[in-house]
Amino acid sequence: MSTRQPSEKSTRITTRTVVEMKGHGEKISMLTAYDYTMARIIDQAGIDIILVGDSASNVMAGHETTLPITLEQMMYHTACVVRGAERSLVVADLPFMSYQVTDTGALESAGRMMKEAGAHAVKLEGGHTIVGSIRKIVDAGIPVMGHLGLTPQSIFKFGTYKVRATDDEEAEQLMDDALQIQEAGCFAVVLEKIPSGLAERVTAALSVPTIGIGAGDRCDGQVLVTHDMLGLNKDFSPRFLRRYADLFTDMTKAFQQYRSDVKKGLFPDRNEQYDK
Ligand code: KIV
Repeated sequence: MSTRQPSEKSTRITTRTVVEMKGHGEKISMLTAYDYTMARIIDQAGIDIILVGDSASNVMAGHETTLPITLEQMMYHTACVVRGAERSLVVADLPFMSYQVTDTGALESAGRMMKEAGAHAVKLEGGHTIVGSIRKIVDAGIPVMGHLGLTPQSIFKFGTYKVRATDDEEAEQLMDDALQIQEAGCFAVVLEKIPSGLAERVTAALSVPTIGIGAGDRCDGQVLVTHDMLGLNKDFSPRFLRRYADLFTDMTKAFQQYRSDVKKGLFPDRNEQYDK
């Protein structure tokens, strides 16, 4: 079993740091994590922001959509990640129906995520319809990251995971939403699966950074779901996904080798046991 090693404290990335990164043209790196061990590796690799995404609903819990995950479950994942992150900024998704009903309800959810789970900021999906909630949360001193374009919590409204805002009307609405949520106090905005030209225009129009996923190279930063970029999932291959490892294959080989060694009595060997 591994134990946590004390290490030198390095300077924490803050919401202010990421806004300054846009100012001096430094790209922002963000990856998802849902547990302590993964957060620790990502943090030590120097990734700026760890997102405790509600994609936990898919990759950790095996649900088809992000809708079923609860606030309590997201808080559990967030607390685990916070314990593993010494330097990265930890942003936690507020899950479906934890902020859409009332502005006060949204603030209560955000407050619990900060106070009980230890998040450094929260992320909410949506534009003009949630401006009141964003303002209320920000006014209470809680930093908010926005999320526009393909917003998976609305999948049953869209009916598809295809690229969003390909027509002029939706593109103009997205631009207007981006400006409104910036004005409401968002310190950054995720742009998911929209045309790169639109992402470039939004990035130029905003003073706060944009972080893209399937939104092209002109965003101020990029985010990927860690399980996808590590190649843990063979079935998900959107065009925007670059796989940096093939852990599905590597892990399968390791498990098969272990099984074979156990079956043949080759594990443990003499050096792997206690004689006295
Ligand atoms: O839940 C998540 O992982 C996300 C990213 C895809 C941005 O929101």
